Amino acid sequence: MQTRILPIDENSLKLSEKIILNGGTVAFPTETVYGLGANAFDGLAVKNVFKIKGRPNDNPLIVHVHKDYDILNLVSYVPEYAKSLAKAFLPGPLTMVYKSKGVVSSAVSCGLDTIAVRIPSHDGAQKFLKYLNLPIAAPSANISKHVSPVTAEHVYSDLDGKVEVILDGGKCSGGIESTVLDCTGEIPVVLRSGLITRDMIAKVVGDCGEYVLKEGEKARSPGMKYKHYSPNCKTMLFSYAECEKAVERYYKYNAEGMNTYILCDGQTANSINVDKVLNLGNSDYEIASNLYYMLREGERKAQMIIAVAPQKQDGVMAGVMNRLIKACKD
Ligand code: TXA
Ligand code: MG
Repeated sequence: MQTRILPIDENSLKLSEKIILNGGTVAFPTETVYGLGANAFDGLAVKNVFKIKGRPNDNPLIVHVHKDYDILNLVSYVPEYAKSLAKAFLPGPLTMVYKSKGVVSSAVSCGLDTIAVRIPSHDGAQKFLKYLNLPIAAPSANISKHVSPVTAEHVYSDLDGKVEVILDGGKCSGGIESTVLDCTGEIPVVLRSGLITRDMIAKVVGDCGEYVLKEGEKARSPGMKYKHYSPNCKTMLFSYAECEKAVERYYKYNAEGMNTYILCDGQTANSINVDKVLNLGNSDYEIASNLYYMLREGERKAQMIIAVAPQKQDGVMAGVMNRLIKACKD
């Protein structure tokens, strides 16, 4: 299969519709990362998404819809707090998990009685979803466990020959995946942190929990238990306090002939004396936006990435840290 990167216009949308209605897959941009989309009603198409990615078959997919789509077609109950959150944050990088009506293929939620729904704000995503007017099941458009893609070229390098069309919407501005929020209980509970933080949610509805997976427990958001976001090179992670140690290692490895880069925020980059830096930038949003991009740059250029964690660890940085830890895990 030939893979084509296309600009988002009437021609590519028409072609995408044809592919999706024939049970195929199309990669499309969102404000977080690129998705690999299939018709959520089509079980074979959804199963093929798992196959293309090499994704474990107990890790459910998010269903994407356009902003005027009536989610009551898909979910059986929307609590009041979820309505307030939708009003505050959607379209945007917040995925909400509801009790499912069971109308989409059971392959989407891997047999769970819930469904994760996302309304992305990216203009290209909205155009694609509106054109199809169908719920589109889509995980991030990377090979399972690899760093999520934030450009059409990233998708191409993972899925060349496996997907017919990649709709090109430029570099994703958000840079890390959406916050996944369980909306099936009394209060909302964050299952995966992201750009919409627990504090932001609590400010709107008064209270918000956070799910922490305990050793040996069955994951409520199954994706959490898997290795993720890993670049195809060696990695190490140091805390902010251990920055000097990281620099020592950098010099040692480079002297030994191992091409090594340091990945860190702008403040740290300015305070250390090294040439090969993957600079994530300064503000929280900038750092999140550059994280996957720089991990992919790193694997292209380096044999070893030594990451130094940012000093701040709360808010958006909680989402960044969660990914950075998983990216640097063996
Ligand atoms: O930003 C994003 O969310 C991107 C773009 C493409 O929209 N998508 C994405 O999908 O990150 P994926 O498949 O890489 O991650 C989906 C996450 C997984 O952690 C999965 O376990 C969780 O959402 N999830 C999906 N359905 C769920 C459900 N019914 N209950 C709990 N967690 C669910
Ligand atoms: Mg993913």
